[in-house]
Amino acid sequence: MTDIAKAGIFTLGGRAVNRMGYGAMQLAGPGVFGPPKDPDQARAVLREAVACGVNHIDTSDFYGPYVVNQLIREALHPYPDGLVIVTKVGAVRGADASWNPAQSPAELTSAVHDNLRNLKLDVLDVVNLRITGAVHAPSEASIAERFEALAALQGQGLIRHLGLSNVTSAQVAEARGIAPVVCVQNLYNLVQRGDDALLNELDEAGIAYVPFFPLGGFSPLQSQALSDVAESLGATPMQVALAWLLQRAPNILLIPGTSSLGHLRENLAAAELALPEDALALLDEIGE
Ligand SMILES: NC(=O)c1ccc[n+]([C@@H]2O[C@H](COP(=O)([O-])OP(=O)(O)OC[C@H]3O[C@@H](n4cnc5c(N)ncnc54)[C@H](OP(=O)(O)O)[C@@H]3O)[C@@H](O)[C@H]2O)c1
Repeated sequence: MTDIAKAGIFTLGGRAVNRMGYGAMQLAGPGVFGPPKDPDQARAVLREAVACGVNHIDTSDFYGPYVVNQLIREALHPYPDGLVIVTKVGAVRGADASWNPAQSPAELTSAVHDNLRNLKLDVLDVVNLRITGAVHAPSEASIAERFEALAALQGQGLIRHLGLSNVTSAQVAEARGIAPVVCVQNLYNLVQRGDDALLNELDEAGIAYVPFFPLGGFSPLQSQALSDVAESLGATPMQVALAWLLQRAPNILLIPGTSSLGHLRENLAAAELALPEDALALLDEIGE
């Protein structure tokens, strides 16, 4: 079995987590809507992740909606000591599978209570405020009212730590003026590196950077250079993409998503893959 601790650990909200984690979004049905075709398989993926040492799982009540949190509860509750479940709030799903902003203080409060109920927790480990706007790219606007609403719920003891998603550097600074921010979850991977400056800034501040779509998301990364490097190392392209992120900065925590046990094991094995300098040089040319 892979020793995922080889990827190192990071202190997320005062708790040490393996830098190799798991993102649960892919466990819902097609379009992240409705139940999966095989719920037993979905629960098996979650149990296998934890059995392999994953102690950082990313989720949301948007996934399904509710389906993924319920699968997590069914598969893993009572949760093992040390497991950090990070959820996010700020949207709701329509009956047509649409993703709709839900960012008023009342909607955020209701989302926190939904997550507590669906995950069967008295307190959520980490809640990310997911800013909507452009779909997968942040846009400038004050987030103070929204973050203050979550900070108030933290003050009531319903949330241990706060994070942000789909945000700019200015929004991180604004939020940090209200309450501590332990993680930021933005789009970033081997190809899409628009967040380099923010990633470096958060590294200096000791804040975790958790890239979403680390494998490219719904269309996994494809590149000849990536395939060539993978072949030369006897690894798969997805493993190289994950290993590159691990080597990019020590504050990067990985949450690759998969609904497959085979892909899960393949992805976790990237924790043991060290990329040599010549491979890094070739991979550096892929970035946008
Ligand atoms: N904050 C946000 O706005 C936001 C947005 C998106 C996602 N997220 C979080 O980030 C996590 C990761 O993102 P993601 O799952 O969307 O994208 P991802 O991790 O970049 O890629 C997942 C896709 O890659 C496939 N895949 C996974 N491992 C593979 C492998 N070894 N070989 C070939 N294909 C593989 C998966 O299909 P299979 O199921 O077939 O393996 C799935 O289609 C999510 O689970 C979610 O928790 C957050």
